[in-house]
Parts: sequence; C-alpha cells; structure tokens
Amino acid sequence: MSSYHFPANFLWGAATSAYQIEGDPLADGAGASIWHRFAHTPGRVANGDTGDRACGHYRRWAEDVALLAELGMTAYRFSVAWGRVLPDGRGAVNQRGLDFYRRLVDALVERGITPMLTLYHWDLPAALQDRGGWRNPDSPAWFADYAQVLFHALDDRVPLWVTINEPWVVTIPGHVDGELAPGLRDLDAAPRVAHHLLLAHLAAVAAYRASGRHQIGIAVNLEPQHPASAALADQMAAQRRDAFINRWFLDLLLLGSYPPEMAEIFGAAWPEEFTPISNPPNPPFSKGGESSPTTDFIGVNYYSRGLVQAEPTVRPLGARRVSPAAEVPITTMGWEVYPAGLTATLLWLRERYGALPLYITENGAAFADPPAAHGVIDDAQRVDYLRSHLHAAALALAQGVDLRGYFAWSLLDNFEWAHGYAQRFGLVQVDPLTLVRTPKRSASVYRDVIRRGGI
Ligand code: FCB
Repeated sequence: MSSYHFPANFLWGAATSAYQIEGDPLADGAGASIWHRFAHTPGRVANGDTGDRACGHYRRWAEDVALLAELGMTAYRFSVAWGRVLPDGRGAVNQRGLDFYRRLVDALVERGITPMLTLYHWDLPAALQDRGGWRNPDSPAWFADYAQVLFHALDDRVPLWVTINEPWVVTIPGHVDGELAPGLRDLDAAPRVAHHLLLAHLAAVAAYRASGRHQIGIAVNLEPQHPASAALADQMAAQRRDAFINRWFLDLLLLGSYPPEMAEIFGAAWPEEFTPISNPPNPPFSKGGESSPTTDFIGVNYYSRGLVQAEPTVRPLGARRVSPAAEVPITTMGWEVYPAGLTATLLWLRERYGALPLYITENGAAFADPPAAHGVIDDAQRVDYLRSHLHAAALALAQGVDLRGYFAWSLLDNFEWAHGYAQRFGLVQVDPLTLVRTPKRSASVYRDVIRRGGI
C-alpha cells in the first residue's frame, strides 16, 4: 500500500495521563494518590523522580490545548485524577479539582478537539488504598460513584469515555510484581483485583447507560505473543501469555467467561467460582455483533509484541518475555519495534470478539532524542515508528476493521512511572528545568499526516 486515506471522521489525537503530566498533585485540595505515595517512597522510582512537577500541565493546560490545536489534532485523550475530584476517594466532591477538568474540556471543545476522558489511569486515591484498594469488594461501587460525578459534570461535552486504563498492568505490575503502585507482591490477590477492575468497568457502564448520551469503553494493553523458539514448552508458554495478557479481561467482558488457561496459570490462587463465571454480571455476551452490553468500544494500547520463553520459576505464568535478536530495532524501553503486530491485533480483535468499534488509545515509542540542531529535534526513530504503525493501522482499516481513531503516546515527554523522566515518549519535548515545550520532528510529521488525512 503506497498511500492510504483514512476515513473522513477518523480521530487524530495524542494521549496523556494525569499523574504523568499534571504536577502539583496536592493542589487545590486534592487528596494524595497511590502514585504520589509510591513515588515518594525511596527506591521505587528511578532517580527518585516524582510527579510533583511533571510537565506542569496543571498550570499550563491552556498552553497544551493550544499546542494540540497547532499540531492539528482533532482529539485528545487525557485522564482525570480521582483524588482531585474526590480527595478521600468517596464522599465530598472537591469543586476546585472538578473545575480544573471542566476548564480543560471547555478549552478543547472550543478548539474543536474531541475529548476522550479516561476515568482511571492508575492513580487510586491513597485513602482508598488504605481500605484495601482494588482488593476490596466495595471498590467497583467506589469507582461507579466517582464515575457518576464525572458523567454528571461533563457528559454534555465529553463524547468518549474510557473507564479503566490497562487493568492487566494494574493487576500484575501493581499487585504481583510490585513494580508499579501500589507496589504489592500479593499473588493470591491478583485474580480478585482483576475481577474487581472488571466489575468496576461494568458498574460504570451500567451507570452510564442510565444517563449518558455518548460512548463508553475500556483501554487494554494488547500484544501478540510469539514463542521464542520452536520448543513445545515455549509454544505453550506463548499460549498462556496470550490468555494472561490479551484474553483475561476481554474474554470475560465480551464472551462471558475467563479463558480456561487462567485456572492453570494461577493454580490454587484462582477462585473456583471464576471458571466459568457462573453469573455473568451483565448478560448476554454475544460474539460477532457490532455492539455489546458491556462496552461500546475497545481501546487498544499497542506498543510491541511478546517473545515468550518457558521459565517455571516465574510466577504465576511460568514464562518470561525475552529480548529480541540483536539486529531487531528496539526502543529504550527494550521493546521491539513490531508494527505488523498492530495489524494482527486489530484483525484478531474482530475475529475473536466481533465488529466492535476500536480506537488505538495508545501507541508510541521511547527513544533517546538527539539534541536540537538548527532548532529541530530530529527524532528520526520516532518518526519511523509513527509512520510504520500508521501504515499498520491503515492495513487493518483496508480490511474493513472498524477503527475510529489513533492516539499517539504521548503528547509530551513525561513521568514514565517507575522509569521517572528517563524514558521519553513525547512528540513534544519538555525541558526538565524550564518546562518549555518544543515539538519534535515527529510532531510535524504527524501534523502533516493529519492535514492530508492519510499516509
Ligand atoms: C502504557 C501506559 C502509559 C505509558 C505507556 C508507555 O502502559 O498506559 O501510561 O506509561 O505505557
């Protein structure tokens, strides 16, 4: 395919999340989040970095909206910090926190930029963690109550809602590996944490169906899993990792039961009543349709593929992801650049779950950018990554996949969780001292793609 025109109403955007860009996490009466707490715990984040300052977006939001407009974006995906709106996670609303998002949304709409609002991008109020966080069976109700505050305040201007960002990452790096907040190593809790996240999504969808006027979905991290060798053990490991990462959440939402591999993966830690789930929370789960009672769309966060090797000592999966061959291009995260996996993932979604609307809610790459030369940061590797992944998306569109938008991760160089500021994903550089924003070459390439509506 040498050139391709995307559908006329295709959304072109960039994505961010609250804790990664806002800074001033406790301003105007906000309650601390688990990420604030985690980042301030020595040894948790590289270089002792925190989100205290981040990109200073909490003060510079108007400048950032202007930047989106200058880059020609037609959509913007951001998240709301739960604790700004409900400092204790439940109960009284903090009007000043809510007003921040109201102003942001108003400014986007004024510029003709479609807001996509993520309700939960990992920053649980610390007060709720003190009650057990996502391990608490009340957590879905906490989330639905919080979601309703936002629906009520903003649904007239926000047409696209995302409930939870990457429930797998919340569950495994957050509650099993201890790498991300809340930083627990509680393998036995993982199946219930995941289940509560799904119930939280369903509870928010149910609340939205009662009053909302637009679309609500979930964003999941997906990647094809390929065996690292032809050995049977590696092939079986790749199959397990496929269930673990790609199917765990979507199978329950869209097919009504967990993948059979889950019980095998978790062994005794897998609750018996989950297989098969006896009372689907929101039936019927029909495969093959263009709509689902459990979600209006699927948001796909795609970065790379998994090369999988059997490794019995790694719990719970009995497998690990290995580095690709030396000659393969990789990002500074160590992730293989593998655009074919994006096409494959989009086609697989339609094949397995039916023709639901899809958005690429995140896609991007971290590279060590060269210093500016003649005023230009020539991030050639990110430009290649962007182009090849847009091409991969176009290939899926050309095969009839109902893909409705693309959000580059990320608008800005930002706080990349446990990596701190060391990993840079931005189309726009943020000077760590002055916070001055400088679009990189990838930003102007993207602007040209948007202007032409194609590649
Ligand atoms: C995703 C997260 C996002 C960012 C990218 C690189 O897993 O949703 O916040 O960290 O990875």
